[in-house]
Amino acid sequence: MSIIEQFIAAYGAEPIVLSRAPGRLEILGNHTDYNEGLTLSAAVEQATEFALRPVDGRICTMRDFRDGSVVEFNLNEIDKPRPKDWTNYVKGVIVELRKRDIEIPTFQGAILSTVPLSAGMSSSAALEVAASFAFAEAFAIDLPKPEWAKIGQAVENDYLGVNTGLLDQFSSIYGKKNSLIFSDFRTNEVIKNVTLPEGYMIVVANSMHKHDLVSSDYNVRRQSCENVAEAMGAKDSTIEALRDVSLEQLEQAKSYLDIQDYRRALHVVGENERVLSGIELLEAGDVVAFGQLLFASHLSSRDNFANSCPELDFLVEQAKSIPGCLGARLSGGGFGGISIHLVKVEEADRYCERIAAAFKLQTGIETEIIQCAIGAGATVKAL
Ligand code: GLA
Repeated sequence: MSIIEQFIAAYGAEPIVLSRAPGRLEILGNHTDYNEGLTLSAAVEQATEFALRPVDGRICTMRDFRDGSVVEFNLNEIDKPRPKDWTNYVKGVIVELRKRDIEIPTFQGAILSTVPLSAGMSSSAALEVAASFAFAEAFAIDLPKPEWAKIGQAVENDYLGVNTGLLDQFSSIYGKKNSLIFSDFRTNEVIKNVTLPEGYMIVVANSMHKHDLVSSDYNVRRQSCENVAEAMGAKDSTIEALRDVSLEQLEQAKSYLDIQDYRRALHVVGENERVLSGIELLEAGDVVAFGQLLFASHLSSRDNFANSCPELDFLVEQAKSIPGCLGARLSGGGFGGISIHLVKVEEADRYCERIAAAFKLQTGIETEIIQCAIGAGATVKAL
């Protein structure tokens, strides 16, 4: 049943808007976004739909048709998130709009999502963006797209306390069908679209190790990056963020940096460089060398940024020996979640079978494998 049919069955009335916001894959540029750096990412076809209708009173109802849960909240009592409540991502958007003097009226809402949860495909950003776009259309809120991305980020940073960057919301909003997007988080803009050469696709293999940024070391990693930018900035006023640091400069600063912070920064500075080389290689059609950058990125995550886990390392190691794969790495925040694999389309089915079998043998659990199509960015329509 479609979300609209389920909405009518649940609430006995039609929704007035329907939005749709996709999950995303981080292709290269790990933990670069909050360092004012560069990323290469893509929206996927898996998305969250959000439908709503205004009602009287102060009690909003939200339903998730994927798991059947129903959550109510009073608009007067949403200043703080509730533990383990998926509607925090919706309430957070309302709270952030309130800070901008925009009041969301009472509504009944529902979501239906195909984005895997807590996997590193940004199910939370998809929900924030879907809610944002639905509110914008239903209640005539006219804000620029980057501002909506910042609202989603503020939900994570201020409402939920995870100091993430803008990558997830950006990719969900600006995704382009069959295209990767190259974003610059100094200027907060999409610089250009880059296509994967014909005959290649991205396969996602889930480590099944729950990635939950709220409880992860994400904020600690960010702090390390900021420590380095600050220490180097104190000696060189042209350095404001890790974006301004080259590998040579970082090497020179090694003598006075905390060695663990140095390794975190080495990852980020290397990732910025890999994004730039990756784009050049894709544009030159050198998909083999591009794949090697994915492997290099993963090694740097594992060894320098320490945001991998044994299951992710195993999946990436397998990718080096199973035919059909050109490169693989963890994608997103890390500490679990998904790996992405650049695979030849004609070998994809066989590749997926083999990596799934290897993972089962090693860990005793089934991995979740998705052959990902690159989808379009978020949309909304009045009904
Ligand atoms: C998570 C965050 C993003 C980004 C990635 C790592 O997905 O939400 O802002 O920092 O991790 O690149």
